[in-house]
Amino acid sequence: MTDKTAKLVIEGRDPIELPVHSGTMGPDVVDVRSLTANGLFTYDPGFVSTASCESEITYIDGDQGVLLHRGYPIDQLANKADYLDVCYLLLYGDLPSADQKKEFQHVISHHTMVHEQMRQFFQGFRRDSHPMAIMVGVVGALSAFYHDSLDITNERHREVAAHRLISKMPTLAAMTYKYSIGQPFVYPRNDLSYGGNFLHMMFSSPAQEYQVSPTLARAMDKIFTLHADHEQNASTSTVRLAGSSGANPFACIAAGIAALWGPAHGGANEAVLTMLEEIGDESRIEEFIARAKDKDDPFRLMGFGHRVYKNYDPRAKVMKETCDEVLSELGVGNDPLLKIAMRLEKIALEDEYFIEKKLYPNVDFYSGIIFKALGIPTDMFTVLFAVGRTPGWIAHWKEMISGAYRIGRPRQLYKGHTQRDVPGK
Ligand code: SDX
Repeated sequence: MTDKTAKLVIEGRDPIELPVHSGTMGPDVVDVRSLTANGLFTYDPGFVSTASCESEITYIDGDQGVLLHRGYPIDQLANKADYLDVCYLLLYGDLPSADQKKEFQHVISHHTMVHEQMRQFFQGFRRDSHPMAIMVGVVGALSAFYHDSLDITNERHREVAAHRLISKMPTLAAMTYKYSIGQPFVYPRNDLSYGGNFLHMMFSSPAQEYQVSPTLARAMDKIFTLHADHEQNASTSTVRLAGSSGANPFACIAAGIAALWGPAHGGANEAVLTMLEEIGDESRIEEFIARAKDKDDPFRLMGFGHRVYKNYDPRAKVMKETCDEVLSELGVGNDPLLKIAMRLEKIALEDEYFIEKKLYPNVDFYSGIIFKALGIPTDMFTVLFAVGRTPGWIAHWKEMISGAYRIGRPRQLYKGHTQRDVPGK
C-alpha cells in the first residue's frame, strides 16, 4: 500500500481525503471505504472502474494484451507447462517441482470418480436439458455427498474441496454429455492424462473403445489451460460473492457455472458457432458486420470485444494455433466455418468501427471451432469452459477465505418512490 491520497471535493461539503493504494502492477486504486461514514456511496454499474479485492493470482494488461498467472505469461504456460501445472500454480502460487507434480497428479487422478449415487441424480433431468443446466445442479449437489470437505474454516477441508472439484468436473461434464445422448457413463481412468481422460470419458463406449490421440489430448489440455483463470471476471466475482457469505465451495462453484452460462460471458463460445453457422457463407459476412455496427440491432459479433482487453486477447492467439493443430490432426484443415471465422476476423480488424471501439477476438472466438472438430456438440462448449475455469474459481475462493474478508453487499442509487402511505381504511 502507498501513502498517496486523493481529495474528494463536493460543493458545500468539507473535502474528503481518500487513501490511494498501488499494486505491484496495474492502475492505482482509490480506497473509498470511508465514504459511507461521510454519507456517500460510489456509483459504478457493471463495476467498470471498481477493484473488488486484492489478489495475487492473475494480472491482465488489457491495453498490451498481457495475461499473467502468478507472473507467468499465458502463452508460455500453454506451450511449456500442462494444465495440472497451471492448476497447481493457481492454487499454491508457484509451478510444482517434479515431486510436487507427481504427488498432485496422484491426488487429482484419485479423486476423479463421483459417488455412485450421483448417477441416479442425472435421471431426474430431461435428456434434452441444456448441459449447463445439469452442471449447475450436479456440481451444487456435490455438497450433498462430500460432507467431509465443507468446513470452510478448516484449511484441509478447503484443500480437499479444491482437489475434488478439479478432479470431478471433467467426470461430471462427460456424464452430462453421455446422459444427453443416451449412452452409458464412462468411468475415469487413472492411467490417462487429464485431457486424455476427459476425451476418453466423452467418446468411449462399451461397444467401441476410444483410442486417445496424444495430439488431441495435448490440445484439450492446452484449451483447459487457456480457460483456467482470468482475474475478477463475472463468474469469478460470483464465486467470490457467494463465498463471502460462507457458502460451501461446491455451492460457490455452482454459482460460478450459472454466471458463466450467459452469452456475454462463457456462453459466447456456443454463440460464436451458432453465429458462424448462421452466417453460413463468406458472402454474408459484410451483412453481419453491418448488423453488429447497427445501434438499433441487438446483434453483436460473438467472440469479439472484451471488458478489459482493448488489444488482441493473448489466449485467442494460442487458441488459433491450437485450432490449426487440431484441424490438421483431424484432416479437416479446410473447415468452412474456420474459413468464415478467419475472413470475419480479417474484415472486422480492418473495420473503422471495431478499430475505434478496440474490439478484438477474445478467447471464445476460435474455441468453438476446435470443439466442433473434436466432435463436441455446441451446447457442451460452455461446459468445457467451466471445466477449464474451475482451478481459477477455486483459487480465488481459497485466496479470499484464507484471509480476512467481509460479506459482499453493494449499495445502490435509489430512484424509487419516497415514503407514502397505503391508501384508505
Ligand atoms: C469472456 O471478463 C472476462 O475476463 C471474461 C472472459 C473470461 O475469461 O472470464 O474473458 C470470458 O466472457 C469473453 C467475452 C465473451 N463475450 C462475447 O464474445 C460476447 C460479445 N462481446 C460483447 O458482448 C462485449 O464485448 C463484452 C460483454 C465482452 C464486453 O462488454 P462491455 O465491456 O460492457 O462493453 P460494452 O458492451 O459497453 O461495449 C462497448 C461498445 C458498445 O458500443 P457503444 O455503446 O459504446 O456505442 O462496443 C460495442 C458496444 O455496442 N461492442 C460491440 C461488441 N462488443 C462491444 N459491438 C459489436 N460486437 C461486439 N461483440
